[in-house]
Amino acid sequence: MLLAVSKPGNAFDLDDIETATVDRLRDLQHARMRHIIRHAYENSPPYQRKCMAAGVHPDDFRNLDDLKKFPFSVKQDFRDHYPYGMFAVPLDRVARIHASSGTTGKPAVVGYTANDLATWSGLVARSLRAAGARAGDRVHNAYNYGLFTGGIGSHDGAQALGVTVIPVSGGQTERQVNLLVDLKPTIIMVTPSYLLNIADEFDRQGRSHADIALRVALVGAEPWTEAMRAEINRRLNLQAVDYYGISEIIGPGVACECIETLDGPTLWEDHFYPEIIDPETGEVLPDGQWGELVITTLTKEALPVIRYRTRDITRLLPGTARPMRRLDRFAGRSDDMMIIRGVNVFPSQIEEQILLVPQLGGHFQIEIHREGALDHVTINVELRAGDVSAPAAEVARELGKRIKTMVGISANVNVAPMGAIERSQGKAVRVIDRRKLR
Ligand code: DLL
Repeated sequence: MLLAVSKPGNAFDLDDIETATVDRLRDLQHARMRHIIRHAYENSPPYQRKCMAAGVHPDDFRNLDDLKKFPFSVKQDFRDHYPYGMFAVPLDRVARIHASSGTTGKPAVVGYTANDLATWSGLVARSLRAAGARAGDRVHNAYNYGLFTGGIGSHDGAQALGVTVIPVSGGQTERQVNLLVDLKPTIIMVTPSYLLNIADEFDRQGRSHADIALRVALVGAEPWTEAMRAEINRRLNLQAVDYYGISEIIGPGVACECIETLDGPTLWEDHFYPEIIDPETGEVLPDGQWGELVITTLTKEALPVIRYRTRDITRLLPGTARPMRRLDRFAGRSDDMMIIRGVNVFPSQIEEQILLVPQLGGHFQIEIHREGALDHVTINVELRAGDVSAPAAEVARELGKRIKTMVGISANVNVAPMGAIERSQGKAVRVIDRRKLR
């Protein structure tokens, strides 16, 4: 019943559902949802216990609107039932294990049946196609290989599509640039912060746009802004598209922006059903309102997840290039939201202001500490390579003023020379909250 994505004909053609009507999509979601709720209930004991505690049974699901009666799943469920307690198939049916990049506590361990792996690679292939991949493309994959879903997940999808994969993984930035120059990939898959590092190294080596053949970047795995997109596009002469995913749901390829519209990632709704909730009350909000993204997997066998609270703050927008709904650019994760003297601030708001100051590159780190009862914020930024157009103190004043006016907080700005801020090879650490470290 849980069908893998199988497609006769040309891998570069759209899947049928990508051109279906919204009504047909809803019918498919309804049928798949009914099945998956029952599958989770019958085969994942922790989910059954949750449903029993909430007084709901799979028979209570009659239409898509009934989903809201069912309990949420959260990251803590994975920790409480570490490592395999949430799995809904016997372990001998699990073809692969990955784990989420948990920085605190136990990671979330996720598993896939052979069908799940086929679904996943089909969706990454669909994402690449949406981003403009075509026959003959060469894909430089700089997401980290290993337990992280980004590397091998993106690799399998590129291979399923039938393009050439160059499995570089993250790190060794000098070599990354050499490979871009020598092997002439046309597509790169990479986090935004690491792509910026690659752009710096590209400049340091004195390379020009004529030395490389990149056309598209599939950029994701961490929050980024439109300002960062403009910076990346300009510096590497390519088109960056927004590529979203989360390990607990499947990995990369949950949603991807379509190259023809570039208006926010289209969520592959035939496999993932989205809701937006008020993070405080759990109430489901109508499309168009900002809140926390909640996703139900519609086809996963090994690890069906019902109403997973992603902690990602966005909103649902109507479909444009596809019948499926789009996500607005993520404001960030609710866990990353800083509360500074009562003002809610996402690192992405700071990133936007930094990139509006011409002398500053996009690398930054925010430090928060408390003196007495008051929070103090320091923003560490870097001058662009060789920029001496204004004294550092003047640049710091300008950014401080912008942040005060546009974000609403007072911050110390520390302008350092290029290279002073620690570089990431995957996801950047944007905030060091010394209030929590003490
Ligand atoms: O980061 C999966 C992935 C790999 C996505 C490669 C895209 C490319 P996790 O390590 O579980 O999985 O982290 C998931 O990363 O909840 C978001 O907070 C953030 N994130 C992922 N993509 C985007 C994006 C992978 N395009 C968490 N924009 C998610 C903003 C993103 N945030």
